[in-house]
Amino acid sequence: MVTVQELYRFAKGELQGLENVSPAFEAECLCEDILHISQTQRMISPDTVPDEGDRERFLDAVRRRKNGYPLQYILGKWEFCGFPFMVGEGVLIPRPDTETLVEAVYSRMKNRCSKRIADLCAGSGAIAVSLKKLLPKSEVFAVELSGDAMPYLTENCRINEADVKIIRGDVCDGRILQNFSDPDSPGDFIPLDCIVSNPPYITDRDMKTLQKEVTYEPEMALRGGTDGLSFYRMITLLWKDLLSDNGIMAFECGYDQADSVAEIMSQAGFSNIDIVCDRAGIRRAVIGMI
Ligand SMILES: C[S@@+](CC[C@H](N)C(=O)[O-])C[C@H]1O[C@@H](n2cnc3c(N)ncnc32)[C@H](O)[C@@H]1O
Repeated sequence: MVTVQELYRFAKGELQGLENVSPAFEAECLCEDILHISQTQRMISPDTVPDEGDRERFLDAVRRRKNGYPLQYILGKWEFCGFPFMVGEGVLIPRPDTETLVEAVYSRMKNRCSKRIADLCAGSGAIAVSLKKLLPKSEVFAVELSGDAMPYLTENCRINEADVKIIRGDVCDGRILQNFSDPDSPGDFIPLDCIVSNPPYITDRDMKTLQKEVTYEPEMALRGGTDGLSFYRMITLLWKDLLSDNGIMAFECGYDQADSVAEIMSQAGFSNIDIVCDRAGIRRAVIGMI
């Protein structure tokens, strides 16, 4: 009879020494999710014997995790900005780095009267949903092209009770802008106060040397063209005219891209361009005003 404590120790041992893995934390997550036992319950009743099905699922999850399969996909959910998000193959796992972008947008939008926000390349909806929850009076749109990401985006709006308007389409195709036209005045747009995006930004060269875990995530969420900057150029040019006076555009970028993104924005006519560091001190978000 294998007990929960033995399974926990086994998982912790198997995950030891793997890159970017915290064995105790991950073993704990797997115990809670698959064996349905919290750390406290395990401490109180270490000799609990899980049923055979749960034990086999647990061992299978440990094996997959040891092979580099993302913990978040095994669990099927992850937290971002304190809100729950369903994740799985087909959608990018929300990263803590992206919370920097949400915080930067929140601090600039919270005191504005009008808060019409579009999250471009929305994926799981991490940014759109978090902003809607943090700014309940805002009107938030989430634009995403991937059919695989769409069920996660829809579900994440639902479980968080976030009234986000989902638009399926290509952010680089001008036809998408029709979704923002004024029904009372054809040809005009109802302006946006903020356009925020964490677009794909990995260079073609870096795509060849991705960390094992990242290779399970959709290529479409990662590949940003030869220099990783394609989406910044397209979005800036195509979408800037939708911004209201003093409207802001805010991007997440790769660790070495902030200056290039700031330059792209400056060339497109943005001013007051700020670069914001994430918790690791990496220049992670670029924000400009039109
Ligand atoms: C880096 S992920 C960001 C996901 C999410 N916003 C986040 O921060 O976790 C980029 C997203 O852009 C989507 N995407 C890629 N090309 C697109 C396009 N042309 N139009 C709209 N979305 C696109 C991908 O499917 C993916 O969900």
